[in-house]
Amino acid sequence: MLPTPPLLLVVVAVLLGGVCPAADNSGAEQIHLSFTDDVTTIQVTYSTFQPVKASARYGTDHVSLPGLCPGERHVYQVLGPAGWSEVFWFRAIPEGSDWSPRLAVVADMGTLTGIYSDLQNPSTLPFLVNDTREDMYDAVLHVGDFAYDMFTDNGTKGDEFLRQIQPVAAHLPYMTCPGNHEQRANFSNYKNRFSMAGGTEGMYYSFNMGPVHFISISTEFYYFLEYGFEQVFSQYNWLRADLAAANQRSIRNVRPWIVLFGHRPMYCSHKPNHACTEWHDRLRVGEDEFKPALPGLEHLLVSSGVDLALWAHEHSYHRSWPVRDGTVTDTGGDPYRNPGAPVHITAASAGRSTDKKPDVLQWMPWTAHRSSTEGYTRLSFHNATHMTIEQVAVGEDGAASVIDTVTIINDQHFT
Ligand SMILES: *[C@@H]1O[C@H](CO)[C@@H](O)[C@H](O)[C@H]1NC(C)=O
Ligand SMILES: *[C@@H]1O[C@H](CO)[C@@H](O)[C@H](O)[C@H]1NC(C)=O
Ligand SMILES: *[C@@H]1O[C@H](CO)[C@@H](O)[C@H](O)[C@H]1NC(C)=O
Ligand SMILES: *[C@@H]1O[C@H](CO)[C@@H](O)[C@H](O)[C@H]1NC(C)=O
Repeated sequence: MLPTPPLLLVVVAVLLGGVCPAADNSGAEQIHLSFTDDVTTIQVTYSTFQPVKASARYGTDHVSLPGLCPGERHVYQVLGPAGWSEVFWFRAIPEGSDWSPRLAVVADMGTLTGIYSDLQNPSTLPFLVNDTREDMYDAVLHVGDFAYDMFTDNGTKGDEFLRQIQPVAAHLPYMTCPGNHEQRANFSNYKNRFSMAGGTEGMYYSFNMGPVHFISISTEFYYFLEYGFEQVFSQYNWLRADLAAANQRSIRNVRPWIVLFGHRPMYCSHKPNHACTEWHDRLRVGEDEFKPALPGLEHLLVSSGVDLALWAHEHSYHRSWPVRDGTVTDTGGDPYRNPGAPVHITAASAGRSTDKKPDVLQWMPWTAHRSSTEGYTRLSFHNATHMTIEQVAVGEDGAASVIDTVTIINDQHFT
């Protein structure tokens, strides 16, 4: 709880066109937050179903909220075509690097009701909603695969998804990357519904939170080449430059942690011949059957000292030992102290899948922990040298518990 009263912000959106107000509803919905390029400015995105233009079924609006008071709780309302929304709150993140960001990581979620909710159902969402109410996080990362699929039923599946996450996403910046289930029509539902930084329609971008540099990429560029072969290269060149900038000594001294997230994992623990050991090597090592060859990312991550890589797609939780080129650097007494290679987490168990079969999981040389129990991941960056990963699992009894905890200690980021 806060010593000072929250600050009041008012988000006003003026819509053009005819307005048919419903008495008890603002007409603004699917309200969600994101960081802009400057994380001290928050963006509010929401949809309205009143006609905005003759050609549009609905409109999506974005409003930036600059000039926030760092670290303070702010309350806001959205003015929809039919009136004011309910009141939401969020906390503007503190300035500088000397604070301890806490995040939740989810992926491969699905929707609670409607068609396909039996295929992929977000059984963990009520826990995330409660965690949000208890002010446990500063942001959420959603590592692709949202609604199965957002385009379904003319986009109503995407609407349903964004309504369902509003109790989380209207309070916390909800930072995303695209998954394979977003690919329809060149990722248009993804691009139109989320508002990320970077000027790439949310396909790749980075942002800073306290002592952490976060990088979001599209692994899907490598697999949906029909939307533009050159996107693989523009992302790669951008990533190389972004990592080089983050590694300038004066910058990495202040912001030592580098965390990258993208949908398809480089390392996981599914049976050999599964997509994660064959297909995903295209992302990890590249593919030279094309001219020019597609550049793999693992060497870049290793040489840039990326601490943590977060993935999804394979519907389970998997934590690797520090690993590079398929070789584990250490499984000994203290492998997570100055690991010398990235640690890979697959955090793809936020949904209850009908296709989740525990027997497809097996121990790989790089497997440190794995679980097919539904859950989500918590990241807590204590300071420049210590960060903790926790996996929360939701058991058959409907109770949540932490089933895996590991602390990475690194005081050699700068060597
Ligand atoms: C999808 O929405 C568009 C725009 O409102 C509409 O023209 C079209 O008929 C809808 N298609 C279906 C199959 O409902
Ligand atoms: C969330 O919190 C409410 C209120 O305390 C409680 O009734 C509910 O059981 C909680 N839900 C979960 C999934 O823990
Ligand atoms: C897909 O979208 C990207 C922009 O995000 C654009 O550069 C590319 O040309 C598009 N591809 C096709 C085939 O339209
Ligand atoms: C960093 O955080 C860890 C874990 O909370 C703590 O043990 C350690 O003393 C902290 N280091 C500094 C320099 O504060």
